[in-house]
Amino acid sequence: MSIRTLDDLLAEGVSGRRVLVRADLNVPLDKQTGAITDHDSASAPAGGTPDGVRISDDGRIRAVLPTLQALTEAGAKVVVFSHLGRPKGAPDPQYSLRPVAGRLGELLGASVSFAEDTVGDSARSAVEALTDGQVALLENLRFNKGETSKDDAERGAFADQLAALGEAYVDDAFGAVHRKHASVHDVPARLPHVAGRLVLREVEVLSRLAGDPERPYVVVLGGSKVSDKLAVIEALLPKVDRLLIGGGMCFTFLKAQGHEVGTSLLEEEMVDTCRDLLARADGKIALPVDVVAADAFAPDAAHDTVRADAIPSKRLGLDVGPQTVAAFAEVIATARTVFWNGPMGVFEMPAFAAGTRGVAEAITKADAFTVVGGGDSAAAVRALGLDESSFGHISTGGGASLEYLEGKTLPGIAALED
Ligand code: 3PG
Ligand code: MG
Repeated sequence: MSIRTLDDLLAEGVSGRRVLVRADLNVPLDKQTGAITDHDSASAPAGGTPDGVRISDDGRIRAVLPTLQALTEAGAKVVVFSHLGRPKGAPDPQYSLRPVAGRLGELLGASVSFAEDTVGDSARSAVEALTDGQVALLENLRFNKGETSKDDAERGAFADQLAALGEAYVDDAFGAVHRKHASVHDVPARLPHVAGRLVLREVEVLSRLAGDPERPYVVVLGGSKVSDKLAVIEALLPKVDRLLIGGGMCFTFLKAQGHEVGTSLLEEEMVDTCRDLLARADGKIALPVDVVAADAFAPDAAHDTVRADAIPSKRLGLDVGPQTVAAFAEVIATARTVFWNGPMGVFEMPAFAAGTRGVAEAITKADAFTVVGGGDSAAAVRALGLDESSFGHISTGGGASLEYLEGKTLPGIAALED
């Protein structure tokens, strides 16, 4: 891999140089404020922020600290930019990165200046005011149409403006490397570019899984939609020894096996595809044998554990049951490599968290190289209070880690190659 790294940049000397760092600071904000991202976590508190907005999981901010600290210690003028949520190319206060600047400053133990725009007057003066070793965070990249534009010229014009703010570019936004966006794909074409510590570590870990993982290799998949995971299931099936499926997506598989699933989440148009996958899986796919079925999608809904082939018609499955956890744990205990993506149930509601907790705990106990992929499963680990250090690696990228394992070319990684 011909990718230059942060160490190469540091070796050249960065003191007094303006270094742009693309970070993925797309963290979940407290829903009560109305400011939410695409993450569904209601996880552990992570410190107060200005404006009363709370960051419910600051894992992605902490993940980028090693790169930022290395740069500030070396005397760089550090300009950080990121997206948050999915605003539509114009300023939208509920997606402001301002609260993130506050939390970033707390974690760095230094004040972080915040620019009210991304490439306008505020950004230019924030960058201008930086002294050696200081950090500025610019407002949400996606407040600008050019960031996500499919039009190369429009994206390029925005990338020109971003690139003009710095003298070198560091990509540490692993969670966004699968996006062909200006800040990820086009800015590195305009400046000397290197991979940051987080991107490097993520690629090292995932390439180990994609290459020749130690066997048995067990993959645990959950989350709500089969359609989101179809490509990764196809790519993983030939590689894995066992594929354990839970979460909302298991009901489409159960239906494909001929079971009624009540009012559980179901992707009717995927049933045939799931039947075909099961037929080709050679017994590698394991499905839940029991589920926690509730009479409503609510934290206090009446619920029982039922057999997976006997879900009552008016109930919906919101978690996998204890026998499933035991069966999955038994398989996980034999593994030498485990990759887990997607919660087993609605872990945000305590009544439906036992499946995710049980499977996560089994993963921590395995004598294996264990990798947690992605936004929601990583958030689940922290929300359930599990010890993060008992996993081999917790990825900061949901879609990005799945696309990496699918073997796709990731625009943000390709842009760093020379
Ligand atoms: C994520 O949360 O998965 C990343 O930050 C990418 O965000 P996106 O899916 O909105 O591009
Ligand atoms: Mg996402």
